Amino acid sequence: MFFGISQYSTYCLPRRAGTRHSAAVSLTTHYLDNIRNFCIIAHIDHGKSTLADRLLEITNTVEKRDMTHGQLLDTMDIEQERGITIKLQPVRMDWEYEGKDYILNLIDTPGHVDFSYEVSRSLAACEGAVLVVDATQGIQAQTLANTYMAIEHDLEIIAVLNKIDLPAADPEKRAAEIESVFGIPKEEIIQISAKEGTNVESLLGTIVTKIPPPKTPETPQARALIFDSIYDTYRGVVAYVRVKEGEIKKGDSLYFMNNKKKFEALEVGYFRPQYEKHSSLKNGEVGYIVTGQKSVGDARVGDTIWKGKEGDLAKATALPGYKKVMPFVFASIFTVDADDYKELREALDKLSLNDAALQFEPERSSALGFGFRCGFLGLLHMEIVQERLEREYDLSLIVTAPSVVYKVIMKKGEEVTVATPSDLPDGGTYDHVKEPWIKMEIVTPSEYVGSIMKICNDRRGIHKDMQYLNENRVILIYEIPLATIVIDFYDALKSTSQGYASVSYDFLDYRQSDLVKVDILIAGDRVDPLAHIMHRSEAQKTGKRITAKLKEIIPKHQFQVAIQAAIGGKVIARETISAMRKDVTAKLYGGDVTRKNKLLKKQKAGKKRLKMIGKVEMPQEAFLAILKKD
Ligand code: GTP
Repeated sequence: MFFGISQYSTYCLPRRAGTRHSAAVSLTTHYLDNIRNFCIIAHIDHGKSTLADRLLEITNTVEKRDMTHGQLLDTMDIEQERGITIKLQPVRMDWEYEGKDYILNLIDTPGHVDFSYEVSRSLAACEGAVLVVDATQGIQAQTLANTYMAIEHDLEIIAVLNKIDLPAADPEKRAAEIESVFGIPKEEIIQISAKEGTNVESLLGTIVTKIPPPKTPETPQARALIFDSIYDTYRGVVAYVRVKEGEIKKGDSLYFMNNKKKFEALEVGYFRPQYEKHSSLKNGEVGYIVTGQKSVGDARVGDTIWKGKEGDLAKATALPGYKKVMPFVFASIFTVDADDYKELREALDKLSLNDAALQFEPERSSALGFGFRCGFLGLLHMEIVQERLEREYDLSLIVTAPSVVYKVIMKKGEEVTVATPSDLPDGGTYDHVKEPWIKMEIVTPSEYVGSIMKICNDRRGIHKDMQYLNENRVILIYEIPLATIVIDFYDALKSTSQGYASVSYDFLDYRQSDLVKVDILIAGDRVDPLAHIMHRSEAQKTGKRITAKLKEIIPKHQFQVAIQAAIGGKVIARETISAMRKDVTAKLYGGDVTRKNKLLKKQKAGKKRLKMIGKVEMPQEAFLAILKKD
């Protein structure tokens, strides 16, 4: 049995006549005819980077012997290790097809929900997209999210089924899925093995014939879309752009439309994939501009670079689609050793040079001392920042449980934004609190639907819809508070579905909820980083769980330690750790000072990973572990 998907049928691709790009020819100069700007969209691990590597190899952009690392476009260490694409790496390839020379600009896109805005901007730099679907897995949540985005940008889509070399591949069934969901006829779907190179050359031919050339005017002014920017120690910020109209030359005076800041094009050129200088970048082309600016915050993704007479600047318009990315998830970062605070500040400064979405401001906690409150796009972004701080800057960190941004409506009507739970004003001073909600799409084999629905319902999710991809796979659509998925939702989903479910989400709106702040007190001291905002109905149960968990985690001391959860002044849960007396050196006989010192030193090193809360030692895992649901 096969089910149609009503909602998605409205997304069916506009069928384009094969002559579409010849219509563009009359509007453009000849060099545009030979340019194809495209990106690859895919769910994580469906083979985007592997395909990009094969394209580089077949077009001789990179010699095979230079491909030793594999996945050439994933350059950051963490990307290579985790196999996820975080930063976009564009590349310009030459390809001869039926006797004509073509320039193919490939813009790789990040595959994770945290970076969907970057995906959207790189799509805006292209005329076409290669949609890669793993033939063993079929459509996943981010296949849907990214393809809808490509359709919204009116891109020509070439659907590709990858990994056909694997015995588990079922190209027939997966092609039927793609046809039913996106309206792409089965016979147009190209079956490839990116790993072995099967049919990749024929895909290049399809890119040339199917994706239209850029259709952009030559004008005295120039406008270019920034789809990425990086900080280079020697040259300052380098903006990665798609020139949408006009021409940008080395030495031109340019402006960022967002902040109207003037700068000079110190160098322009193409991606080979290394920088290759050129005298200019013309309309329709993809390349880089060395701006000499000091922070990527100036050259924000989605902003427009404008060239024109200074007097016309006020009248100039930016290219559509720019938005300043706002962090959704917040957490505080402290160093285990208070002396490392300065290093942490320097490391965050350096990281933010290359990451315009990372926000941070100094924070002081009575329990943990000086640290930073940091804003992230999502959980993956947070994990990556933490990992880079620890690995690249050799810092030992305590990261508090992530929380979201709340809006507090005060009695007099003004709205206060609260990004740190302990900052929530006392009950009675405000009228109500609003929290962010998201729309979530989960793609899963149908046998897990029941347990996944339970996970969502337990997190106050509202079930909106369920659609069938085929007889044994479904798309579940939920509206759910963002706060309820930031802690351990992914883990729960993964273990319930044995890793087969995938999820993508989009911000919806802020909604009023009955929320309260639960404080945690240890030996009478309020521990700010452990404060948590939650729904009133969950407070009692969660308070009990947290105090019980802390009792397990906190080691015994020489005195009794009380652990309390409280709303305002009212204690809702309490546990007590009884006192213990232990002298580790007692068993050593009097005279051997060296042995005694050695033992004390060892013990001190062990304590380095503990944090003092008043007189109580707290292991760092407590800050995250206690909030995980069992
Ligand atoms: P992200 O960077 O996380 O978005 O992943 P990706 O889509 O770039 O996937 P990647 O290219 O890293 O491939 C994921 C895994 O699938 C790797 O282990 C690849 O070696 C493997 N893979 C990719 N294409 C093929 C293929 O055609 N056949 C087989 N057998 N394996 C493949």
